[in-house]
Amino acid sequence: MSEKKPRAGQAKSKDMADVSAAVNKYKGELGQLIPILQDIQAKFYYLPKEALIQVSEATDIPLSRIYSVATFFKAFSLEPRGRHMVSVCLGTACHVRGAPKVLEQIERNLKISRGETTSDFKFTLETVNCMGCCALGPVVRIDGKYFGEINAGKVDSILNKYE
Ligand code: FES
Repeated sequence: MSEKKPRAGQAKSKDMADVSAAVNKYKGELGQLIPILQDIQAKFYYLPKEALIQVSEATDIPLSRIYSVATFFKAFSLEPRGRHMVSVCLGTACHVRGAPKVLEQIERNLKISRGETTSDFKFTLETVNCMGCCALGPVVRIDGKYFGEINAGKVDSILNKYE
């Protein structure tokens, strides 16, 4: 049975026990901050402000330093994100093969624009410039899984896998 995760954007004080667990797991280790932040991000899908304050207090790492690390790495988000990250490549190779139409279809299906998260925190949509697999374009990546040679007509069936 899989562990039920809290809804993104709804970190409550009871969830802060998970932050303590992450801190305790790595406390005292050199370079502890990034793994702690990774664990928190995996739990909440972003880095809630309350969690970062708790990390700062528990590790004596200044909050400003924590924010600077959190904003430096693109993998971390300070804004609530959906459980599934949908990335649409708009690099040149994908663009000329129809990626803008794929993006439009995904935006229609999810009823959000790029950079936004659905109101149920299920999906966040982003665009990227190249995923390094141009021959498969247009390419869409969801939670690290790549879908190649996508067209607008395939969008429904791909997103349905995550419903
Ligand atoms: S341009 Fe899309 S993968 Fe390279």
